[in-house]
Amino acid sequence: MRSRKILLLPGDGVGPEVVGEVKKIINWLNSKKSLDFKVEQELIGGASIDKNKTPITDEVFYKSLECDAVILGACGGPKWDNLEFSKKPERALLKLRKELKLFANLRPAICFKQLVEASTLKPEIVSGLDIMIVRELTGGIYFGEPRGIEPYKNNERKGINTHTYTSSEIHRIARVAFELAKKRKNKVTSCEKSNVMEAGVLWREEVQNLKDKEFGKVNLEHMLADNAAMQLLRNPKQFDVILADNLFGDMLSDEAAMLTGSLGLLPSASLGAKDKNGKIRSLFEPCHGSAPDIAGKNISNPIATILSFSMALRYSLDMDKEADALDNAVQQVLDDGLRTKDIVSKGTKEVTTSQMGDAIISKLK
Ligand code: IPM
Ligand code: MG
Repeated sequence: MRSRKILLLPGDGVGPEVVGEVKKIINWLNSKKSLDFKVEQELIGGASIDKNKTPITDEVFYKSLECDAVILGACGGPKWDNLEFSKKPERALLKLRKELKLFANLRPAICFKQLVEASTLKPEIVSGLDIMIVRELTGGIYFGEPRGIEPYKNNERKGINTHTYTSSEIHRIARVAFELAKKRKNKVTSCEKSNVMEAGVLWREEVQNLKDKEFGKVNLEHMLADNAAMQLLRNPKQFDVILADNLFGDMLSDEAAMLTGSLGLLPSASLGAKDKNGKIRSLFEPCHGSAPDIAGKNISNPIATILSFSMALRYSLDMDKEADALDNAVQQVLDDGLRTKDIVSKGTKEVTTSQMGDAIISKLK
């Protein structure tokens, strides 16, 4: 068995707790299934600022380039809120996304049958829900220039960000969405604001161009992003693959997460293009943030991070069998009625973060 290098970046808030559960799972797989994961752990975000005065050191950055997969917890928290923008914990995450060229962010929103009751929506609206959100991750308003806060007339200030996309940036992310749709229900809903933004018009046209050229058989629907937000609540099961830019994808994925019951359930994979050696750079993280209000209490839900590791097994490490086993273990634990605080409901048993991790490991056995 080839040895795989995994870099764990727990980060801030609940990050260390939830990544800690993945570490337990990796250690268990190494010892019991004779797999050979070489695990390293480093600081990122606020934790790195406290020790090294920077959200990510060059050393950690280069390590992330060398490993087979990065598993990240969360970056940020109130402690670092007043720092200058370029020094904030979140910059580490954005640097990794940008420099590793992780342009494709996959966020599967699946409503597990056991958790239908945990959603704030009616059971019939969410049961059986299975959406894949494909979010562009290295462009748009998150990175566009010019940006900044500058003095403005009459002692005012002006905040500036720029939303830009090129045809090729749109094509490469749309291609990911179309390819995924072919393996699913064959439908892509592309979201933009072409009614008010030129970049939205371009987005719509280029997605359509690519479909006409290469993906004639995939059903493509264009939807204004605000309407998509509304439709997600009205009738989420109309969606299969949702394609969106960086900002709309950020918002729509948080919304979709809540359909599944809790933000604590939604994993994500951020993938780059294949390099010359066929290697795909990748980073896996839960969609939730650092949740400082519940950090350190051993009550956070580790499932999003554990499922993110499962995505790492599937998308980066070519270990589908192990990914299936892990996904099944999560299902079985939910079948048994074990729930962390965020998803507990009548008739189920509340467990801590670490108990949830242990229970999942016990199902792997
Ligand atoms: C996400 C988060 C990040 C984002 C933050 C932490 C920078 O909300 O991954 O969805 O906005 O992309
Ligand atoms: Mg977000």
